[in-house]
Amino acid sequence: KYILAVAGGGSTYTPGIIRSLMDRLEDLPLSEIRFYDIDGARQSKVVVAAKAVIAEYTDSILVTDTTDPQTAFENADFVFAQMRVGKYALRELDEKIPLSHNVVGQETCGPGGLAYGLRTIAPMIELIDYVEQYAKETAWIVNYSNPASIVAEGVRKLRPKARVLNICDMPVATMRNIAAILGVEREELVVDYFGLNHFGWFTRLEVDGIDRLAEVREHVYKHGLLTEDVSKIDYRHADSSWIKTFKNIKLIMDHFPEYLPNPYLQYYLFPDHIVETSNKDYTRANEVMDGREKTLFETVEKFEETGILEDSFAVGVHGTFIVDVTVSIAQNLGKRYVVMTENNGTIPNLPADAMIEVPAFITADGPKPEFVGDIPYFYKAMIEQQLASEKILVEAIIEGSYEKALQAFTLNKTLPSAKVAKAVLDDLIAANKDFWPTL
Ligand code: G6P
Ligand code: MN
Repeated sequence: KYILAVAGGGSTYTPGIIRSLMDRLEDLPLSEIRFYDIDGARQSKVVVAAKAVIAEYTDSILVTDTTDPQTAFENADFVFAQMRVGKYALRELDEKIPLSHNVVGQETCGPGGLAYGLRTIAPMIELIDYVEQYAKETAWIVNYSNPASIVAEGVRKLRPKARVLNICDMPVATMRNIAAILGVEREELVVDYFGLNHFGWFTRLEVDGIDRLAEVREHVYKHGLLTEDVSKIDYRHADSSWIKTFKNIKLIMDHFPEYLPNPYLQYYLFPDHIVETSNKDYTRANEVMDGREKTLFETVEKFEETGILEDSFAVGVHGTFIVDVTVSIAQNLGKRYVVMTENNGTIPNLPADAMIEVPAFITADGPKPEFVGDIPYFYKAMIEQQLASEKILVEAIIEGSYEKALQAFTLNKTLPSAKVAKAVLDDLIAANKDFWPTL
């Protein structure tokens, strides 16, 4: 039986992930679950819900919540990492500061994502070092922490030997929508995909050996990446903002007659449209704080008063995916999932040291990417520009270099000029003074 630690235990995603773990106890038997967070007060509330979920299934798992790294990671087999450095207060600034300059305001894409990256690298390295110090030698960190592309590059550069698997639920969530469009189960869909995190394209959507990409594109062209019945899209991505995001894919279809883009590409390809249709005073961070966050804490309060746990956090692909990849590691199944991994010739015409997102076989030794081959020049050029922005940002953090931070911002496709890049960077430096290395 395994010991699992959840770093960022105070996350609103925790109860859903726990439910997913409980549904899979036969595949991933657990003796202990330890919740770890630097905000012990917030975590202790979330853990009330997590414990209630566990109690529905078993009383034989020892559950601890702690702010002490040794207590959390001693002898652990797996660590799920889902930290949000600066919490939603800083996400709000990541979104609103760029928007105040008429630039895309998004959690992981554009200047907000770069700002979030600047906050997250040091805490992520700290976590890796704790795990190295206390956990089993064979322990794996399965990492959802954003901005995943920049985090993956920082980890590759600063802790190249660390056993960290960087994952994101967007490819699998997109597959969920595609499966709904095709009227098949997500598990029946076999995809080819290449890119960086939140920056990639599906190139084949196979069901029973037949590529259905053209058919799916035809549907998306008319209706967006959605079915009429949105109940097939799970709670994580079924609110009005996500529905708008999935509808917007139509925009990309109009312009690019091949492949199926990751929804996040709209921020890079249509930043003007995104800014025009954004509310500068009430962004996604506000929606999440007033929605998902509030609901969870209300659910906990109600549970404490009545003993009834309302089902406000169904599992969804976010919860199932992290457990799927972990089971594949634990049992050395070599199952094929889209994850982040070092290129090393998988896409020969991209740099070998790029952290790319592609299908890989997930083994006890980590991800083994399937060969992709050279990609067409348009995609290569877009990816290399984004990659350069992210790699230079990580250098800026390590060297404390303002010049490099400005280069990283300037290279980001959401920023229209070096002048605007500098103005946004300077405002973000002021807002992040408690979090960033001195630039
Ligand atoms: C997707 C992405 C995550 C991101 C999340 C934001 O699932 O893959 O990387 O954090 O969406 O969703 P939210 O509902 O918080 O805006
Ligand atoms: Mn993601």
